[in-house]
Amino acid sequence: LTYWWCLQHGESDNNVLGKIGGDANLSPRGVQYAVSLARHMNAQQIPDLRVWTSQLRRTKQTAQDICATKEHFDALNELDAGVCEGLTYEEMADQFPQEFAWRDQDKLRYRYPWGESYLDIMGRLEPVFLELEHMENVLVVSHQAVLRCVLGYFLGKKPEELPYINVPLHTIIKLTTEGYSCRLEFIKLPV
Ligand code: F6P
Repeated sequence: LTYWWCLQHGESDNNVLGKIGGDANLSPRGVQYAVSLARHMNAQQIPDLRVWTSQLRRTKQTAQDICATKEHFDALNELDAGVCEGLTYEEMADQFPQEFAWRDQDKLRYRYPWGESYLDIMGRLEPVFLELEHMENVLVVSHQAVLRCVLGYFLGKKPEELPYINVPLHTIIKLTTEGYSCRLEFIKLPV
């Protein structure tokens, strides 16, 4: 029986504004979550805890007060939305209606101009999956689209389902693996 955890960064200023992508700071609520997350994790005194974050501010800030060895990886960065970075979904629909429609038709394969698709993320996550398969006591702090891919992979979901997996905010997801089966536990923290 082995287990590890993953979670989304706390609410960011761009989450509040409904903007896609970017490298925003945590919102005041996101900062509160980071504090309660650190309190929760530090109280467990997990031996040799390691924290992996993306290279973006919001995941680093989320993990900031957790006592652990931290490493930051490009592979854990959020889906690169290319020309749509910094837009709201309404602005995207307005400025790039054809792109918006294509994404709606095939969210798994749709690649933003100068950006990425969910399938592209699956590709860059491959080395991360291989590591996680034989790791313990790792806490992965990443982003919505990336975590959908991580959960989909470990739960054996069909690729088409990946872009729609629910990854709740302000919730720690504990993954316990036994042989080939994987069980999830959701720990919602007060913010
Ligand atoms: O809106 C937050 C966010 O993490 C964006 O940065 C990212 O493009 C998006 O979620 C991914 O979700 P979806 O694939 O549903 O647009």
